[in-house]
Amino acid sequence: MNSSGMKRTDSISGIPMKILVIHGPNLNLLGSREPSIYGRTTIGDIDERICALCAELGMECETFQSNSEGGIVDALQQKSYDLLIINPAAYTHTSVAIRDAISAVGKPAIEVHISNIHKREDFRKHSYISGVSVGQICGLGAEGYLLAVRAAKKLLSE
Ligand code: DQA
Repeated sequence: MNSSGMKRTDSISGIPMKILVIHGPNLNLLGSREPSIYGRTTIGDIDERICALCAELGMECETFQSNSEGGIVDALQQKSYDLLIINPAAYTHTSVAIRDAISAVGKPAIEVHISNIHKREDFRKHSYISGVSVGQICGLGAEGYLLAVRAAKKLLSE
């Protein structure tokens, strides 16, 4: 809200910009999954913080988690959004299908990883998604999603 109590909008049409956040496989287990790598924050907490920050910045937000590659491709094709924030999890390193869907839809995408994938096993160092993303944030824990939301706001205001 701005000082006059009106909801801020960013598009020419006055409709608030919408962020779609997609979480890939096993991220539903955040909080209990390998906490030494992924921390103790649950996906529910992360989604709550993302949506609160989006609201503060005058943007709409929808979050979605799927353990299946097809479920993620369907969401990318079917949901409406202005910018994508995606942690494709293990599909980062394997999925041409998710990369192609991001490319086909043509909306700007920001790739997020909780852990620093460049400091871990060699197979995690390659991302199929980076080549179709504006940028990648990794290694900053759950905070990375909030940094992505702030970057999204800036990108959509340009
Ligand atoms: C991850 C890193 C991936 O390598 C891994 O398969 C995940 C999570 C991350 O957020 O750090 O599931 O994307």
